[in-house]
Amino acid sequence: MFQDALTDAQTRVQTALDAAMEPLDGIIADAMRYTCSGGKRLRAFLVMEGARLHDVAPDVADQTAAAIEMIHAYSLVHDDLPCMDNDDLRRGVPTVHIQWDEATAVLTGDALQTLAFEVLSNLDAYAEVRLALISSMAKAAGAQGMVLGQALDIAAETAETPLTLKQITRLQAGKTGALIEWSGQAGAILAEADPAPLRQYAQALGLAFQIADDILDIEGDAEKAGKRLQKDTEAGKATFVSLLGMEGAKARADELIVQACDALSPYGDAAGNLKAAARFVIDRDT
Ligand code: IPE
Ligand code: IPE
Ligand code: MG
Ligand code: MG
Ligand code: MG
Repeated sequence: MFQDALTDAQTRVQTALDAAMEPLDGIIADAMRYTCSGGKRLRAFLVMEGARLHDVAPDVADQTAAAIEMIHAYSLVHDDLPCMDNDDLRRGVPTVHIQWDEATAVLTGDALQTLAFEVLSNLDAYAEVRLALISSMAKAAGAQGMVLGQALDIAAETAETPLTLKQITRLQAGKTGALIEWSGQAGAILAEADPAPLRQYAQALGLAFQIADDILDIEGDAEKAGKRLQKDTEAGKATFVSLLGMEGAKARADELIVQACDALSPYGDAAGNLKAAARFVIDRDT
């Protein structure tokens, strides 16, 4: 069952995160632990499911999942800063720059990012496999991936003309899609198997995920989401909803979910949890 697998992923990744941060102490370590608790753990779940489909050792999968959740958490801490989205609530608690201060938030993000790469470099896997994971994660998180998407997102707020569908797709494939795509294919990379089907699945899933996030910003319940909502329109964010309208965005998300599930056909029934995850991504209220 998908819900059981997601709950299991949440428990397992928390254990791996706690273990990775165990040797650390001081203010940044406190803020790192604070930042790495809660959340849906969708990226961890994707890593673990992909790994399970390829018979990767669970312990290796858990540490790989912890690494991507660290990168994701770092991206959220920086996304919430006053110079970016200026948010004071995340996962139901004050953001790091509110709980501590801006310098702590910048440094916590930096430290989470470097720890993620340290964790991957120490995996119990062949050196070639570790390098492939490290190099693909660097690409996904950096100036061709998440960071690029975040820069386009901020630039779009003050753009003179609304972004086109192609431009918004590029923006969202970067800011949200790149880390989800990495998570989806990590299990295949660990097993030295062809990552193409999982990559195609996760590419479509990542786009649908951000459309759902943009819909939640308009229709969601802030209490459940654990973050401030109804901010994107006023901030001038470029979203599928701003371009296609609510019905158009929902239809696009549905199409993407069909595409995502179709890409899983090589795995047959074994991919049931991943298919259910695709539904979850667009039906969720958090
Ligand atoms: C929020 O991600 C930021 C986006 C990329 C849209 P999630 O909705 O996965 O956040 P958590 O990890 O569950 O808190
Ligand atoms: C955040 O997108 C994407 C990253 C953190 C890379 P959003 O700005 O839409 O995410 P929320 O709505 O703050 O969670
Ligand atoms: Mg943002
Ligand atoms: Mg934000
Ligand atoms: Mg959002």
